[in-house]
Amino acid sequence: MLPPETDLWNRVEQTAREVFGTFGFGEIRPPIFEPTELFARAVGGETDIVSKEMYTFQDRPADLPEQHKGFVVPEYARRVIVNFDRREIPHTEPNQNLIHELKEKLDRFEWVDKNLKAAKGSELVALFGEYETLYTELAQIVFVKFALGDLVSLRPEATASVCRAYIEHGMHALPQPVKLWYTGPMFRRERPQKGRYRQFYQIGAEVLEMVPPNQDPAKNIGKDAAVDAEVIEMVLAFFAKLGLEGVKLEINSIGDRECRTKYVELLRAELLKVKHKLGPDSQRRVETNPLRVLDSKLDSEQGIIAGLPKIADHLCANCAAQYAEVKRQLGMRGVAYAENWRLVRGLDYYMRTTFEITALGLGSQNAVCGGGRYDGLVELLGGQPTKGIGFAIGEDRLILSLQEASKGGVAQGRDVFVAWMGEKAQATAIAAAQKLRAAGFRVELPPVEQKFGKALGQADKLGARYALILGDDEIATGQWTVKTLASGEQRTVTAEDIVKFLQGEIEQ
Ligand code: HAM
Repeated sequence: MLPPETDLWNRVEQTAREVFGTFGFGEIRPPIFEPTELFARAVGGETDIVSKEMYTFQDRPADLPEQHKGFVVPEYARRVIVNFDRREIPHTEPNQNLIHELKEKLDRFEWVDKNLKAAKGSELVALFGEYETLYTELAQIVFVKFALGDLVSLRPEATASVCRAYIEHGMHALPQPVKLWYTGPMFRRERPQKGRYRQFYQIGAEVLEMVPPNQDPAKNIGKDAAVDAEVIEMVLAFFAKLGLEGVKLEINSIGDRECRTKYVELLRAELLKVKHKLGPDSQRRVETNPLRVLDSKLDSEQGIIAGLPKIADHLCANCAAQYAEVKRQLGMRGVAYAENWRLVRGLDYYMRTTFEITALGLGSQNAVCGGGRYDGLVELLGGQPTKGIGFAIGEDRLILSLQEASKGGVAQGRDVFVAWMGEKAQATAIAAAQKLRAAGFRVELPPVEQKFGKALGQADKLGARYALILGDDEIATGQWTVKTLASGEQRTVTAEDIVKFLQGEIEQ
């Protein structure tokens, strides 16, 4: 990402900061990598994201290289022991068992090594045999069997991290709900194409609220629905402020653990009847995750999917009531939506409300935002029962769509190009640049004098809006020449008035 496109990225992020701020959200900055286990548990081991797309590697103590380059095995083994004692190597059960074996074998190895020098005849042969066996066994333990570090992954998304932070930082003790937003790179090993990258950027937000003990779940349906609707309203307010075009919101409810489980079984039974007509991906999903069959874009499967049972007809009373209330709340906020019963989302933590937003000019990768409710995720990660709802916007796609509609509004390269000629003019030009920069203008000051024709050509190329022309006449009279580059119009302005003049011009 390069300038001037980065100006647009900054404007988008700044607008998010402002709009989300008006809804009471504060910024959280989670780490770029986390234990693999966190994502596996939160997003789900069977999902594409976790099973195929994560960038995962084994962490290890700083002084233990991956290979034993430059080490002989016993020395490497000694380092493993030291690192284990320092707790740099995880004290998992298999590692705890291995460390005893390692210590015993290393002691014996050192004894054999010492006695080998003095040994003769058959004793030498026996000791040498043992030396070789122990050496191989030690190598096996330290290079193959020991898990030298935890598995860590580059984050494929940030909801899991935000929930982890909520637990670790005791945010349940803060006034509830806790409203957080974030922006930054995410990583998924997907097949790259327009709008789909292996390092992409998200702008997301989460609302987390601990459930007080003994709360009647039915009682809060109205409240939860209002929170869902406000979160959706916030994304749309952000998009409206950016001037994003062709924005379409789709919503669905995928029920809760109980009614969804029953629906999934029903769906699986129906899918099994037509399994032979499905493509290989869907055939596999009938077993692993039948809901994801509804996501299929295969032409040949559309007719079959249209005839499948719909979740809306199988929601339990509470889920149905909440879904109806979300729609009512969206209506009160003037938010237009379409219902899409096939909107199931590709992450396991969702329940009840799910939604996606598409925008203009994005081709097949047209989801610019996805989100939903995930009550129970914090508890799954070891916290107290907590409700959650949030979304993430694909920033790359948002930028593509804005550019497509030429709403990029990429700020031009410079406000003012200071064209100067003559030694005296240089001092004035430097002073003028200092004054204009202090007032916040983006100023280009050439390091050496240039003929005015050449200077104006360069100002044009840089996309400057004004040229401030400082030659002998201007220095002598104190009347500076300002040229509007788009129209070619020229005026004289005094040194005192230059800032005020340009501010007035630029604000118009
Ligand atoms: P997601 O649907 O996986 O949801 O991603 C959200 C958005 O990120 C997508 O709609 C898309 O715009 C963008 N995105 C995803 N993958 C890529 C990619 N490879 N290249 C470019 N853009 C991409 C989540 O990540 C959830 N954590 C959202 C959420 C937050 N739900 C609740 N809270």
